[in-house]
Amino acid sequence: MKCLTLLLALLCIANVYASDIEVLHWWTAKGETEAQAILEKALLEENIKWNNFAIVGEGGESAVRVLHMRALSGNPPDVAQIKGPDIGEWTRIGMLEEIGQITDTSLWPQILPQIVRETVTVDGKYMAVPINIHRVNWLWLNKAIFDQLSLPVPTTWDSFFDIADKIKAAGYIAIAHGGTDWQDALLFESMALSLLGAEKYKQAFVEHDKAVLTSPEMIHVFEQFKRLHQYTDSSMRGKDWYQASQLISNNKAGMQFMGDWAKGMWNAQGKTAMVDYICVDVPESKGLFSYNIDSFVFFEKNGSKTPREIQRGFADTLLSEKFQADFNLAKGSIPVRKGINMVKFDQCSHKSFADFNSGELVPSFTQNLASTSYLQNIMIKIISNYFNNPAADATNTVNYLSLAIRAIKE
Ligand code: GAL
Repeated sequence: MKCLTLLLALLCIANVYASDIEVLHWWTAKGETEAQAILEKALLEENIKWNNFAIVGEGGESAVRVLHMRALSGNPPDVAQIKGPDIGEWTRIGMLEEIGQITDTSLWPQILPQIVRETVTVDGKYMAVPINIHRVNWLWLNKAIFDQLSLPVPTTWDSFFDIADKIKAAGYIAIAHGGTDWQDALLFESMALSLLGAEKYKQAFVEHDKAVLTSPEMIHVFEQFKRLHQYTDSSMRGKDWYQASQLISNNKAGMQFMGDWAKGMWNAQGKTAMVDYICVDVPESKGLFSYNIDSFVFFEKNGSKTPREIQRGFADTLLSEKFQADFNLAKGSIPVRKGINMVKFDQCSHKSFADFNSGELVPSFTQNLASTSYLQNIMIKIISNYFNNPAADATNTVNYLSLAIRAIKE
């Protein structure tokens, strides 16, 4: 009883002294919430109380929309999950605080990989704090179904289609897929990177080179992409990614193309990498790595400013060594900070880490690492419309995509 009273008193004191920080994010699926809770706990140890502003919706589309409304009405949250070129957009309209004003960033060149630093730098200044590195171009295999049907790992697209036919014939869903714009485009991105290679992928989806975007090779990518549709389950249309990943957990589907946040979910459900699910390269993608780096920005506030020490505590926690290990273990990503002890990480994370350090890296355009979310939204809608409309033509679609990109950029 005495202990309980003491504990309650301590909790009260913690509550009185902890300062709130309102954080907008979209980590709402299983695995994501576990990772977020680790962050919340780490902050509380620094006396910072997480004020949750979570918006459900894959890839953060709804969250970013809500953020725009809050920011335009002059009431942004203290911190938000913003990544890639969107960091530059928010910086240029003068809404963000420079990280160098908040905390000491002098060690960043030593502790963060160059590509990560470049991602959070705008006009020579760090404008966001990175937290993790997700790999997007994974193919996940359901071990039980692969064992039952004695299927090999698909390493070419020919073998992939052959295996998908066998899974379908055995009465399973071949590809777990939720069928939303964002998931359709993620599927496309993985296939496009595989078929085009890193150089052409970058020319098309980072530089938006018209010749590559409308090339016969790109038309071929779209045609191959459409072939995947028959292996998805139409009743899953409109479902979120974690609902699709659940089909792997329930042994209803054989494979899924998804970033490694799906691994975070399966692990949180008690599944084990290489025992329950297997991570492999997307066919014909050895050494190619499409990256997605999550980061947080701090908003300039007119009225109630977030105290500096709270901002500093938040920023420093994100990059602290223990937190980097604990958080990324739960999230399914790899640490953004170099030199983190990864003994507790599974084989998939080790593969991700090795490929990140030695493979060819490209920014994931479906995860907003290659363009602003505004442009990304238009692109993923065009890709998704093509995928879901049997009558849509690949040549028209590439021309339309290229035109739409030009219209937005020029
Ligand atoms: C991405 C985010 C990941 C993951 C995923 C699914 O945009 O970068 O961390 O959570 O959405 O929600």
